[in-house]
Amino acid sequence: MCGIVGYVGPREAYPIILNGLKRLEYRGYDSAGVAIFDGSEIQLCKTKGKVSDLEAKIEGNIQTNGQLGIGHTRWATHGVPNDVNSHPHYSNSGDLVIIHNGIIENYATIKKELINRGYTFQSDTDTEVLVNLIEDIKIKEGVKLGKAVQIALNQVVGAYAIALFDRQKPDEIVVARLGSPLAIGIGDDEFFVASDATPFIEFTNKTVYLKDEEMAIIKAGRDVKIRKIKDDTLVDPYIQELQLNLEQIEKGGYEHFMLKEIYEQPQVIKDTYRGRLLADQGIIKLGGLEDHIHRFINAPRVTIVACGTSWHAGLVAEYIFEDWARIPVEVEYASEFRYRNPVISEKDVIIAISQSGETADTLAAIKLAKQRGAFVYGVCNVVGSSISRETDSGSYTHAGPEIGVASTKAFTTQITVLTMIALRLAQAKGTISTRDYMLHLRELELVPTYVSEALEGDGKIQEIANVFKDAANFLYLGRGYNFPVALEGALKLKEISYIHAEGYPAAEMKHGPIALIDEQMPVVVIAVNSNHYEKVVSNIEEIKARKGKIIAVVTEGDTTVKELADYIMEVPQIPEALTPLVTTIPLQLLSYHIALMLGRNVDQPRNLAKSVTVE
Ligand code: F6R
Repeated sequence: MCGIVGYVGPREAYPIILNGLKRLEYRGYDSAGVAIFDGSEIQLCKTKGKVSDLEAKIEGNIQTNGQLGIGHTRWATHGVPNDVNSHPHYSNSGDLVIIHNGIIENYATIKKELINRGYTFQSDTDTEVLVNLIEDIKIKEGVKLGKAVQIALNQVVGAYAIALFDRQKPDEIVVARLGSPLAIGIGDDEFFVASDATPFIEFTNKTVYLKDEEMAIIKAGRDVKIRKIKDDTLVDPYIQELQLNLEQIEKGGYEHFMLKEIYEQPQVIKDTYRGRLLADQGIIKLGGLEDHIHRFINAPRVTIVACGTSWHAGLVAEYIFEDWARIPVEVEYASEFRYRNPVISEKDVIIAISQSGETADTLAAIKLAKQRGAFVYGVCNVVGSSISRETDSGSYTHAGPEIGVASTKAFTTQITVLTMIALRLAQAKGTISTRDYMLHLRELELVPTYVSEALEGDGKIQEIANVFKDAANFLYLGRGYNFPVALEGALKLKEISYIHAEGYPAAEMKHGPIALIDEQMPVVVIAVNSNHYEKVVSNIEEIKARKGKIIAVVTEGDTTVKELADYIMEVPQIPEALTPLVTTIPLQLLSYHIALMLGRNVDQPRNLAKSVTVE
């Protein structure tokens, strides 16, 4: 939610900032802006719209020389997206310039006080309030920028990652974080700051991830001084080596990141179980799990907290955990859990699932569970993210950077990790026979091949997309393991094509949604071989009787549903518990093609942002 980037060093800052903004644009794309400082003049340009609009506004019109720069790509929280509300923001004197990702909750009170003290405001943003608060403190207390930032941040309530500089200090950027990510790239005499490491991977692989309630004063040619915001204690920077490479964050010949990420699934699922699943030896070994396996085995239940697609992965896990490991599971929206006064004790185990590892609601749910003594296990994709640090233990998914806003490969790799956890727990508890355990291990190892086969249906799915692209509504139905896949299919369609879609357990159709079915209504039914196959066939008959258009996801070689459905999308035969890993593939492709045919911005759908760091 908002991307921030900064540079200070011997190079020209503008190209680094602009390129960085392009890489961070997935985080928010309502508006964009930069400020470049050459030691005497600050050039500031911002606009509503995309980074490409900003680039067009700058090129040829504004001088961009300068070795210090900051840039911002925005997902609006306070104030509509327009030029004025875009970042960066000046302080009243014009000396301080700030960019901010997050939300200052008590901004209204502070603003009132500042207005009483004579400050004026151009924008409706909380950020402009923060920069003026810092300026006010700096002047009033006669302190340097870093100290003023520290005092100000102790007065604000909310979440932030900020970067700012002072006209008086042409070689210094001050950054701070609470609840929103911030990475510092360390080069030779130069420093980079960004919401994630992607803007600087071609310059340095050394990075420091700032922790919550930490700030840093970064001086070109000198060093980075990290301090705790609360008590000013100096912190030793923990420098990590980045595992990212440029190829991972480029489109690699695909038209969109989303398509690339859909097609990466066979590989990233393999990456996710590599070294952890040794089918020949009958071993599953997840580092984060082994030391804490007794917590899971002795837990009265497992509660899964997550949002959006990650919540859907949690629902799939509920079926697998209960089926194989016989552990009761509850799956909660993190946003509801955190405000519900949930009954949680020291014996409870919480699994928090998050691609970004930064989702504010999931983070808050984790904190609440920890306060109540529960053991919290994270399933995250982004290494070093807030959630991965906040949890007691966990397992990373190895999906690589997911840049398309609609989550695809994160979902299947989350299910892969959760399936391995369930299988290991089932083995440890003895709730699964050795024969079944070995069978599932071997089948899990074959999933990448099955996913590749499912991807081969792409051409046919494009034809189906062409038939239904103008539909106003879609219904998605599934049962058992594939009920969450129906929810996920509907979410994918609505978020990138803006077509209204609902996911339902197939049997629930009769309790309401059936009223919607007529000859205009496409109904996507997941009807693969399973314990529920006959029942799903009956549901299809009911839809057909009401003239609904049936698009069915079926197992290769299926004849019964093929006869009934208007269109079919085939996936390979696979044990029922693993079917979500393949049935989700045609639904991702269907959404992608419909959105593309409707001319939508597939990778950056309207109003959305990749990581939701505000509640
Ligand atoms: C859907 C999507 C969102 C995220 C949700 C949680 O395609 O991307 O629904 O799944 O915002 O995000 P993470 O997994 O980063 O916590």
